[in-house]
Amino acid sequence: MTTLIVNGTERRFEGDPDMPLLWFLRDELGLTGTKFGCGQALCGACTVHVDGTAVRACQTPVSAIEGAKVTTIEGLSPDGEHPVQVAWRALNVAQCGYCQTGQIMQAASLLKDIPNPSDDDIDTAMSGNLCRCGTYPRIRAAIKQAAKGGQP
Ligand code: FES
Ligand code: FES
Repeated sequence: MTTLIVNGTERRFEGDPDMPLLWFLRDELGLTGTKFGCGQALCGACTVHVDGTAVRACQTPVSAIEGAKVTTIEGLSPDGEHPVQVAWRALNVAQCGYCQTGQIMQAASLLKDIPNPSDDDIDTAMSGNLCRCGTYPRIRAAIKQAAKGGQP
């Protein structure tokens, strides 16, 4: 059995220990905000935080993170007012939206580590999060906005 703390609540999993965290979150816990894209750690759509670090849930076996604290987009803030979420809404970052959970979780992790990131910091941190709609300029602007608190 694997025990995790997901969005502040203890959760237990007794199935295949090799099952990706993404399936546990989506199929067992119903946390469908985290998306499946490539399944190969190549697109970033499935990004969540494990003990505060952005990881790809599609390539993280549940058993590899026994006891860890997992945060998904549903748990990023209690009211959707994390500075990244505020900035994202203010600048209308999303287009189709599919990649945006991963983008937001990656951006939140970046800002925790580097509160005032440079363009290079942003490019480095966000390079593994792909957006088919090409929202990259707005993502970069929103990260800078979030660094200032989120509001324009
Ligand atoms: S679905 Fe995990 S990185 Fe693409
Ligand atoms: S907003 Fe459509 S894939 Fe990023």
